Amino acid sequence: MEVISDLSFSFAHLLILKAVIETGIAEIINSRFCKPEELSLLLDTEYEGTKRILKALKAIGIVEERDRKYSIKPEYKRYFDKESPFYIGYFINHSTNLIKRWEKLADVLKKEKTERLETQNLHILARALFPLNIEQAERLALCLSKNFKVILDVGCGSCVWSIPFAKRKAKVFALDLDEVIENAAIPVIKALNLQERFTFIKGDLFQIDWQKGYDMIIWGHICHIFSPEKLKVMFSKAKESLNKKGSLVIIDFIKEQDKSFPFIFDINMLLATKEGRTYEKEEFISMAENHHLDFIKEILLDEKKNTKALVFKKG
Ligand SMILES: C[S@@+](CC[C@H](N)C(=O)[O-])C[C@H]1O[C@@H](n2cnc3c(N)ncnc32)[C@H](O)[C@@H]1O
Repeated sequence: MEVISDLSFSFAHLLILKAVIETGIAEIINSRFCKPEELSLLLDTEYEGTKRILKALKAIGIVEERDRKYSIKPEYKRYFDKESPFYIGYFINHSTNLIKRWEKLADVLKKEKTERLETQNLHILARALFPLNIEQAERLALCLSKNFKVILDVGCGSCVWSIPFAKRKAKVFALDLDEVIENAAIPVIKALNLQERFTFIKGDLFQIDWQKGYDMIIWGHICHIFSPEKLKVMFSKAKESLNKKGSLVIIDFIKEQDKSFPFIFDINMLLATKEGRTYEKEEFISMAENHHLDFIKEILLDEKKNTKALVFKKG
Protein backbone atom coordinates (compact mmCIF):
# COMPACT_ATOMS: atom_id res chain seq x y z
CA MET A 1 0.00 0.00 0.00
CA GLU A 2 3.04 2.32 0.25
CA VAL A 3 2.74 3.02 -3.48
CA ILE A 4 -0.72 4.43 -2.83
CA SER A 5 0.02 6.40 0.33
CA ASP A 6 3.18 7.90 -1.27
CA LEU A 7 0.94 9.50 -3.93
CA SER A 8 -0.43 11.89 -1.38
CA PHE A 9 1.05 15.40 -1.82
CA SER A 10 4.07 14.06 -3.74
CA PHE A 11 3.93 17.31 -5.77
CA ALA A 12 4.11 19.63 -2.74
CA HIS A 13 7.88 19.99 -2.12
CA LEU A 14 8.47 21.05 -5.72
CA LEU A 15 5.63 23.59 -5.72
CA ILE A 16 6.65 25.06 -2.35
CA LEU A 17 10.16 25.66 -3.71
CA LYS A 18 8.72 27.11 -6.94
CA ALA A 19 6.60 29.59 -4.94
CA VAL A 20 9.49 30.51 -2.65
CA ILE A 21 11.72 31.30 -5.64
CA GLU A 22 9.06 33.09 -7.71
CA THR A 23 7.92 35.37 -4.88
CA GLY A 24 11.48 36.42 -4.02
CA ILE A 25 11.26 34.92 -0.51
CA ALA A 26 14.20 32.59 -1.29
CA GLU A 27 16.50 35.42 -2.36
CA ILE A 28 15.94 37.40 0.85
CA ILE A 29 16.14 34.54 3.37
CA ASN A 30 19.22 33.27 1.54
CA SER A 31 21.06 36.47 2.45
CA ARG A 32 19.80 37.05 6.02
CA PHE A 33 17.40 36.10 8.83
CA CYS A 34 13.98 37.65 8.34
CA LYS A 35 10.61 37.68 10.18
CA PRO A 36 7.50 36.64 8.21
CA GLU A 37 5.88 40.06 8.70
CA GLU A 38 9.00 41.81 7.35
CA LEU A 39 9.06 39.55 4.29
CA SER A 40 5.37 40.08 3.78
CA LEU A 41 5.83 43.86 3.81
CA LEU A 42 8.94 43.85 1.61
CA LEU A 43 7.48 41.53 -1.04
CA ASP A 44 3.78 42.34 -0.66
CA THR A 45 3.00 38.67 0.02
CA GLU A 46 0.08 37.41 2.08
CA TYR A 47 1.21 37.26 5.74
CA GLU A 48 -0.42 34.00 6.86
CA GLY A 49 0.80 32.18 3.72
CA THR A 50 4.34 33.55 4.10
CA LYS A 51 4.45 32.40 7.74
CA ARG A 52 3.17 28.90 6.90
CA ILE A 53 5.65 28.52 4.03
CA LEU A 54 8.58 29.44 6.31
CA LYS A 55 7.42 26.99 8.97
CA ALA A 56 7.03 24.25 6.32
CA LEU A 57 10.55 24.94 4.98
CA LYS A 58 11.86 24.68 8.55
CA ALA A 59 10.05 21.36 9.05
CA ILE A 60 11.42 20.05 5.72
CA GLY A 61 14.91 20.98 6.96
CA ILE A 62 15.97 23.66 4.48
CA VAL A 63 15.44 26.69 6.75
CA GLU A 64 16.53 27.50 10.32
CA GLU A 65 14.71 29.75 12.83
CA ARG A 66 16.18 32.14 15.42
CA ASP A 67 13.93 34.47 17.48
CA ARG A 68 11.04 34.13 15.00
CA LYS A 69 13.41 35.01 12.14
CA TYR A 70 14.05 32.54 9.32
CA SER A 71 17.01 31.94 7.00
CA ILE A 72 18.15 29.23 4.56
CA LYS A 73 20.57 26.85 6.33
CA PRO A 74 24.23 27.39 5.28
CA GLU A 75 24.49 23.96 3.61
CA TYR A 76 21.52 24.81 1.33
CA LYS A 77 22.53 28.38 0.42
CA ARG A 78 24.28 27.49 -2.86
CA TYR A 79 21.03 25.90 -4.18
CA PHE A 80 19.23 29.26 -3.88
CA ASP A 81 22.08 31.45 -5.14
CA LYS A 82 21.33 32.47 -8.76
CA GLU A 83 25.05 32.83 -9.53
CA SER A 84 25.94 29.32 -8.36
CA PRO A 85 26.09 26.25 -10.67
CA PHE A 86 24.06 24.52 -7.92
CA TYR A 87 21.08 26.95 -8.26
CA ILE A 88 17.86 24.90 -8.31
CA GLY A 89 15.80 27.55 -10.13
CA TYR A 90 16.61 25.83 -13.45
CA PHE A 91 15.40 22.50 -12.06
CA ILE A 92 12.12 24.06 -10.88
CA ASN A 93 11.64 25.66 -14.31
CA HIS A 94 12.34 22.34 -16.08
CA SER A 95 10.02 20.43 -13.74
CA THR A 96 7.15 22.82 -14.48
CA ASN A 97 7.60 21.98 -18.18
CA LEU A 98 7.70 18.27 -17.34
CA ILE A 99 4.30 18.52 -15.60
CA LYS A 100 2.79 20.21 -18.71
CA ARG A 101 4.25 17.42 -20.84
CA TRP A 102 2.96 14.62 -18.59
CA GLU A 103 -0.56 16.08 -18.46
CA LYS A 104 -0.82 15.05 -22.13
CA LEU A 105 -0.17 11.37 -21.45
CA ALA A 106 -3.81 10.26 -21.59
CA ASP A 107 -4.33 12.21 -24.85
CA VAL A 108 -1.32 10.48 -26.37
CA LEU A 109 -2.64 7.06 -25.31
CA LYS A 110 -6.07 7.91 -26.71
CA LYS A 111 -4.31 8.78 -29.99
CA GLU A 112 -5.66 12.30 -29.83
CA LYS A 113 -3.77 14.81 -31.94
CA THR A 114 -1.45 16.59 -29.55
CA GLU A 115 1.82 18.40 -30.02
CA ARG A 116 4.87 16.62 -28.68
CA LEU A 117 6.31 18.74 -25.85
CA GLU A 118 10.02 18.51 -26.60
CA THR A 119 12.47 20.23 -24.25
CA GLN A 120 12.61 23.77 -25.63
CA ASN A 121 15.50 25.40 -23.83
CA LEU A 122 18.12 22.69 -23.68
CA HIS A 123 20.46 24.87 -21.61
CA ILE A 124 17.81 25.02 -18.84
CA LEU A 125 17.68 21.21 -18.78
CA ALA A 126 21.48 21.07 -18.75
CA ARG A 127 21.71 23.49 -15.82
CA ALA A 128 18.83 21.76 -14.02
CA LEU A 129 20.77 18.49 -14.09
CA PHE A 130 23.97 19.90 -12.53
CA PRO A 131 22.88 19.95 -8.85
CA LEU A 132 21.18 16.56 -9.30
CA ASN A 133 24.19 14.77 -10.76
CA ILE A 134 27.36 16.41 -9.48
CA GLU A 135 27.71 14.15 -6.43
CA GLN A 136 27.27 11.05 -8.57
CA ALA A 137 29.87 12.44 -10.98
CA GLU A 138 32.36 12.92 -8.11
CA ARG A 139 31.76 9.31 -7.05
CA LEU A 140 32.26 8.07 -10.60
CA ALA A 141 35.63 9.84 -10.82
CA LEU A 142 36.65 8.23 -7.52
CA CYS A 143 35.62 4.74 -8.72
CA LEU A 144 37.43 5.10 -12.06
CA SER A 145 40.74 5.53 -10.34
CA LYS A 146 42.77 5.39 -13.58
CA ASN A 147 44.38 8.64 -14.65
CA PHE A 148 42.56 9.87 -17.75
CA LYS A 149 44.55 12.56 -19.54
CA VAL A 150 42.30 13.50 -22.47
CA ILE A 151 38.51 13.17 -22.33
CA LEU A 152 35.62 13.82 -24.73
CA ASP A 153 32.28 14.63 -23.02
CA VAL A 154 29.56 14.16 -25.67
CA GLY A 155 26.25 16.01 -25.07
CA CYS A 156 28.10 17.59 -22.18
CA GLY A 157 25.33 19.95 -21.00
CA SER A 158 26.85 21.71 -17.98
CA CYS A 159 29.90 19.37 -18.18
CA VAL A 160 28.77 17.85 -14.88
CA TRP A 161 30.25 14.40 -15.64
CA SER A 162 33.65 15.64 -16.85
CA ILE A 163 34.20 18.37 -14.21
CA PRO A 164 35.49 15.93 -11.51
CA PHE A 165 38.02 14.55 -14.03
CA ALA A 166 39.06 18.09 -15.03
CA LYS A 167 39.65 18.82 -11.34
CA ARG A 168 42.00 15.81 -11.40
CA LYS A 169 43.96 17.52 -14.21
CA ALA A 170 42.36 15.87 -17.27
CA LYS A 171 42.10 17.94 -20.46
CA VAL A 172 38.41 17.87 -21.49
CA PHE A 173 36.86 18.40 -24.92
CA ALA A 174 33.18 19.19 -24.29
CA LEU A 175 30.74 18.77 -27.19
CA ASP A 176 27.14 20.05 -27.34
CA LEU A 177 24.85 22.31 -29.34
CA ASP A 178 25.87 25.99 -29.59
CA GLU A 179 23.04 27.21 -27.32
CA VAL A 180 23.98 24.74 -24.56
CA ILE A 181 27.72 25.44 -24.71
CA GLU A 182 27.08 29.21 -24.49
CA ASN A 183 24.39 29.19 -21.77
CA ALA A 184 25.20 26.12 -19.68
CA ALA A 185 28.73 24.77 -20.19
CA ILE A 186 30.67 28.06 -20.36
CA PRO A 187 28.95 29.79 -17.38
CA VAL A 188 29.39 26.70 -15.18
CA ILE A 189 33.03 26.15 -16.16
CA LYS A 190 33.76 29.86 -15.56
CA ALA A 191 32.04 29.79 -12.15
CA LEU A 192 34.24 26.85 -11.16
CA ASN A 193 37.34 28.50 -12.63
CA LEU A 194 38.17 25.50 -14.82
CA GLN A 195 38.48 27.34 -18.18
CA GLU A 196 42.06 26.19 -18.69
CA ARG A 197 41.07 22.53 -18.65
CA PHE A 198 38.18 22.77 -21.18
CA THR A 199 37.92 23.12 -24.96
CA PHE A 200 34.40 23.46 -26.36
CA ILE A 201 33.15 21.83 -29.56
CA LYS A 202 29.86 23.30 -30.78
CA GLY A 203 27.54 21.40 -33.12
CA ASP A 204 25.35 18.38 -33.81
CA LEU A 205 27.13 15.28 -32.53
CA PHE A 206 26.00 13.31 -35.59
CA GLN A 207 27.32 15.91 -38.05
CA ILE A 208 30.65 16.99 -36.63
CA ASP A 209 34.02 15.26 -36.44
CA TRP A 210 34.74 14.10 -32.87
CA GLN A 211 38.48 14.05 -33.68
CA LYS A 212 40.81 11.44 -32.15
CA GLY A 213 43.12 10.85 -29.20
CA TYR A 214 40.83 10.34 -26.20
CA ASP A 215 41.57 8.12 -23.18
CA MET A 216 37.90 8.28 -22.26
CA ILE A 217 34.63 9.27 -23.91
CA ILE A 218 31.63 10.10 -21.67
CA TRP A 219 27.99 9.80 -22.75
CA GLY A 220 26.13 11.24 -19.73
CA HIS A 221 22.35 10.79 -19.99
CA ILE A 222 22.29 11.14 -23.76
CA CYS A 223 21.60 7.59 -25.01
CA HIS A 224 17.92 7.72 -23.96
CA ILE A 225 17.36 10.58 -26.45
CA PHE A 226 18.19 8.36 -29.43
CA SER A 227 17.05 5.24 -31.32
CA PRO A 228 19.24 2.09 -31.52
CA GLU A 229 20.07 3.08 -35.13
CA LYS A 230 21.41 6.45 -33.97
CA LEU A 231 23.31 4.79 -31.11
CA LYS A 232 25.06 2.56 -33.65
CA VAL A 233 26.37 5.70 -35.39
CA MET A 234 27.57 6.99 -32.01
CA PHE A 235 29.35 3.71 -31.13
CA SER A 236 31.09 3.81 -34.49
CA LYS A 237 32.25 7.41 -33.92
CA ALA A 238 33.39 6.56 -30.36
CA LYS A 239 35.44 3.60 -31.55
CA GLU A 240 37.18 5.75 -34.17
CA SER A 241 37.93 8.53 -31.70
CA LEU A 242 39.20 6.51 -28.74
CA ASN A 243 42.86 5.69 -28.18
CA LYS A 244 43.87 2.03 -27.96
CA LYS A 245 42.69 0.73 -24.54
CA GLY A 246 40.53 3.88 -24.23
CA SER A 247 37.26 3.72 -22.27
CA LEU A 248 33.69 4.58 -23.21
CA VAL A 249 31.54 5.39 -20.18
CA ILE A 250 27.75 5.38 -20.63
CA ILE A 251 25.71 6.89 -17.80
CA ASP A 252 21.97 6.29 -17.95
CA PHE A 253 18.84 4.97 -16.22
CA ILE A 254 19.19 1.24 -16.92
CA LYS A 255 16.04 -0.86 -17.41
CA GLU A 256 16.04 -3.78 -15.01
CA GLN A 257 13.36 -5.90 -13.39
CA ASP A 258 11.77 -4.33 -10.27
CA LYS A 259 13.47 -0.96 -10.88
CA SER A 260 10.58 1.37 -11.70
CA PHE A 261 12.25 4.66 -12.57
CA PRO A 262 13.80 3.67 -15.94
CA PHE A 263 10.34 2.47 -17.05
CA ILE A 264 8.78 5.77 -15.96
CA PHE A 265 11.51 7.66 -17.79
CA ASP A 266 10.77 5.52 -20.86
CA ILE A 267 7.32 7.16 -20.92
CA ASN A 268 8.94 10.59 -20.53
CA MET A 269 11.00 9.95 -23.65
CA LEU A 270 7.90 8.75 -25.53
CA LEU A 271 6.21 12.07 -24.69
CA ALA A 272 9.28 14.22 -25.37
CA THR A 273 11.00 12.72 -28.40
CA LYS A 274 10.34 10.96 -31.71
CA GLU A 275 12.67 8.07 -31.06
CA GLY A 276 14.07 8.18 -27.53
CA ARG A 277 13.74 5.40 -24.95
CA THR A 278 15.57 3.80 -22.06
CA TYR A 279 17.70 0.68 -22.56
CA GLU A 280 18.69 -2.53 -20.82
CA LYS A 281 22.35 -3.13 -20.00
CA GLU A 282 22.42 -6.11 -22.37
CA GLU A 283 21.32 -3.91 -25.29
CA PHE A 284 24.25 -1.54 -24.69
CA ILE A 285 26.66 -4.48 -24.32
CA SER A 286 25.51 -6.05 -27.59
CA MET A 287 25.77 -2.75 -29.54
CA ALA A 288 29.21 -2.06 -28.04
CA GLU A 289 30.52 -5.55 -28.84
CA ASN A 290 29.47 -5.06 -32.47
CA HIS A 291 31.93 -2.16 -32.48
CA HIS A 292 34.69 -4.09 -30.68
CA LEU A 293 34.17 -2.31 -27.39
CA ASP A 294 34.31 -4.80 -24.52
CA PHE A 295 32.16 -4.46 -21.42
CA ILE A 296 34.40 -4.09 -18.35
CA LYS A 297 32.17 -3.19 -15.39
CA GLU A 298 29.13 -1.33 -14.10
CA ILE A 299 29.06 1.23 -11.31
CA LEU A 300 25.77 1.90 -9.51
CA LEU A 301 25.46 5.68 -9.06
CA ASP A 302 21.87 6.06 -7.83
CA GLU A 303 19.90 3.12 -6.54
CA LYS A 304 16.46 4.82 -6.64
CA LYS A 305 16.68 5.75 -10.32
CA ASN A 306 18.92 2.79 -11.21
CA THR A 307 21.46 5.18 -12.69
CA LYS A 308 24.51 3.21 -13.70
CA ALA A 309 27.81 3.92 -15.37
CA LEU A 310 28.64 1.16 -17.85
CA VAL A 311 32.34 1.03 -18.68
CA PHE A 312 33.58 -0.35 -22.02
CA LYS A 313 37.12 -0.66 -23.31
CA LYS A 314 38.55 -0.57 -26.83
CA GLY A 315 40.69 -3.67 -27.39
C1 LIG B 1 19.78 15.04 -20.89
S1 LIG B 1 20.97 16.21 -21.36
C2 LIG B 1 22.43 15.60 -20.55
C3 LIG B 1 23.45 16.66 -20.34
C4 LIG B 1 24.65 16.24 -19.50
N1 LIG B 1 25.43 15.22 -20.14
C5 LIG B 1 24.18 15.79 -18.13
O1 LIG B 1 24.14 14.58 -17.87
O2 LIG B 1 23.81 16.64 -17.32
C6 LIG B 1 21.29 15.78 -23.04
C7 LIG B 1 22.31 16.68 -23.71
O3 LIG B 1 22.54 16.20 -25.03
C8 LIG B 1 22.62 17.32 -25.90
N2 LIG B 1 22.27 16.90 -27.27
C9 LIG B 1 21.11 16.35 -27.69
N3 LIG B 1 21.15 16.12 -29.01
C10 LIG B 1 22.36 16.55 -29.44
C11 LIG B 1 23.00 16.58 -30.70
N4 LIG B 1 22.39 16.13 -31.78
N5 LIG B 1 24.26 17.07 -30.76
C12 LIG B 1 24.89 17.55 -29.66
N6 LIG B 1 24.33 17.53 -28.42
C13 LIG B 1 23.08 17.04 -28.32
C14 LIG B 1 21.61 18.31 -25.33
O4 LIG B 1 21.84 19.62 -25.78
C15 LIG B 1 21.81 18.12 -23.83
O5 LIG B 1 22.78 18.99 -23.31
